[in-house]
Amino acid sequence: MNIYLDNASTTFPKPKSVVDSMYNYMVNVGGNANRSNNFNALESNREIFLAREKIAKFFNFEKIENVIFTNNITTSLNILIKGLLKPNDHVLTSSLEHNSVVRPLISSKEKLGIDLEFVQASKEGFVNPKDFEKRIKPNTKLIILTHASNVIGTIQPIKEIGEICKEHNIFFIIDSAQSAGTVPIDFKELNLSALAFTGHKSLFGPQGIGGFIISDELNEVCTPFIEGGTGSLSHDIYQPNFLPDKFESGTLNIPGIIGLSAGIDFINNEGLEKISKKNKALYKKLSKGLLDIGDYIVYGDLTFENSTTSLSFNLKGVDPSELAFYLEDNGISNRSGLHCAPNCHKTIGSFPSGTVRLSISYFNTEDDIDKALEVLKSAKKNLIF
Ligand code: ALA
Repeated sequence: MNIYLDNASTTFPKPKSVVDSMYNYMVNVGGNANRSNNFNALESNREIFLAREKIAKFFNFEKIENVIFTNNITTSLNILIKGLLKPNDHVLTSSLEHNSVVRPLISSKEKLGIDLEFVQASKEGFVNPKDFEKRIKPNTKLIILTHASNVIGTIQPIKEIGEICKEHNIFFIIDSAQSAGTVPIDFKELNLSALAFTGHKSLFGPQGIGGFIISDELNEVCTPFIEGGTGSLSHDIYQPNFLPDKFESGTLNIPGIIGLSAGIDFINNEGLEKISKKNKALYKKLSKGLLDIGDYIVYGDLTFENSTTSLSFNLKGVDPSELAFYLEDNGISNRSGLHCAPNCHKTIGSFPSGTVRLSISYFNTEDDIDKALEVLKSAKKNLIF
């Protein structure tokens, strides 16, 4: 069996409680939420309510109706970006972003005429809050930023940037795809306007469930990008204006919501601090072990203190795809290439061929890391001529 070190793509395995909760819903409940009064529908409503409550609490937000479910974080980011921006709005983002932020912004620039600036991060993978502050203009409406890079894991100074946004009255949205479930995130303390999340990474839910939390202030000016049936106000041909229905059209991914809810229970039961500590210890062991082998170029923050669990590297003179195949052939699951984040690879100096990425989750063990390091050692022997 392969050692799975591609957890930044999606975590595997999931806690058994996640699988059991989804199985229970599919076998014993199964109704559609918000669509009728039968037992099955009401039980689904109840589960969704509890999930919203849990998510709001997990990210320290008090209004549960402001927790919106979507099918993935890309949908969340599209809803927020396209619902908010108008022609001539000025938007700041970073050179570390995933295409889920870059592409909707580029299309908003081309179709709407927004004024878009990418703030350059350092080669080590960090933005400087001052670089955002000095670019603020009277029409700056939004700063949107990844919390942690999906390529190199570096955690951004979002608290400082949140303070700048507050001072200048600018909306602040973060992409927490790689950070939620690995480090604490406090919506209020960070002064967020919206937090976009995915369920299937470190929150341990299944694929196909994501969402966002939106502040009342941002909700006031954000129009729904997707409209349709909500099960509410069915006599009305206009989209409801209240939350969460305003942003939740169509049948929700109820098994996904239930699995995500169980994933958050798992994190709460284990303790986020314990999870972070274990992840960090394994990450440092892998990173330092890799540097000790020699002939590997490791990207990002080489102190390994301010990162989640993604490690990007190359073997000198070897194409990343060749190294990736070697690792896979020898039982180490990984992801290579540009990781849907070409600008980040330009920033760290690995564009266009990219890197090989290994990423850890709570279910990995010291033994997994030892085995991965053995294979990385043998790759050096067998691939460098
Ligand atoms: N965004 C995910 C990754 O970084 C899929 O691999």
